Amino acid sequence: MSDKTRKYFLAGQSGCGKTTLLKALAAREDRVVHWDIEDEYRGEQITFADIPRLAKRRAFCVVYRPHFARSLEDLPREFEQFAGLLLKYGRQLTVTIDEALSVLPRNRTSGGLGALLYQGRKRGLSVYYATQEISGLPRALTGQAKKLFVFHLDSGGDLQVLRRYLAPDLVRRVAALPPHEYLTVTK
Ligand SMILES: Nc1ncnc2c1ncn2[C@@H]1O[C@H](COP(=O)(O)OP(=O)(O)OP(=O)(O)O)[C@@H](O)[C@H]1O
Ligand SMILES: [Mg+2]
Repeated sequence: MSDKTRKYFLAGQSGCGKTTLLKALAAREDRVVHWDIEDEYRGEQITFADIPRLAKRRAFCVVYRPHFARSLEDLPREFEQFAGLLLKYGRQLTVTIDEALSVLPRNRTSGGLGALLYQGRKRGLSVYYATQEISGLPRALTGQAKKLFVFHLDSGGDLQVLRRYLAPDLVRRVAALPPHEYLTVTK
């Protein structure tokens, strides 16, 4: 069976426009869940208890603000639960994960985000994930993206990772991009 879910990966330096684009991409969809670590997304706020009920609804834009995590170290565990509930009860929806690096377990495994990317297809879960730097993401996560939206990046580590996916002239263009401009790469 072909995979119709969307896996969009947005990368770029702070302030370049990732969150703005993430919101615009999600606004095209009618069943959306935002993982909102920095109180930046608008929509009906939900708790874990609401996730099973989403399956019955036709259209929604809901926001989950992590609040169990008392420290950044706890955050991946809360995300793991969030992802687990979506995988169990979600269907035909789009989930956005901004600041993706912050939900990764410290042991550098792909964690809940990896689970969403690898297992979400069966439930029709599209995943949009954004990060300021890509060199910190496990290769399993960068490699799962079907479409990349690349804003300005200029650190050596990030450009090195980009060379896996982009031709050398495109990598040079990424390093020269002005704020708010991006390249798209479909794999
Ligand atoms: N296409 C655009 N044109 C003009 N201004 C923009 C555009 N995209 C974003 N901005 C503005 O740039 C600022 C930073 O945008 P945004 O918060 O989306 O960046 P970001 O990449 O998510 O940053 P961070 O990594 O720090 O979260 C905001 O004030 C936003 O309104
Ligand atoms: Mg942002």
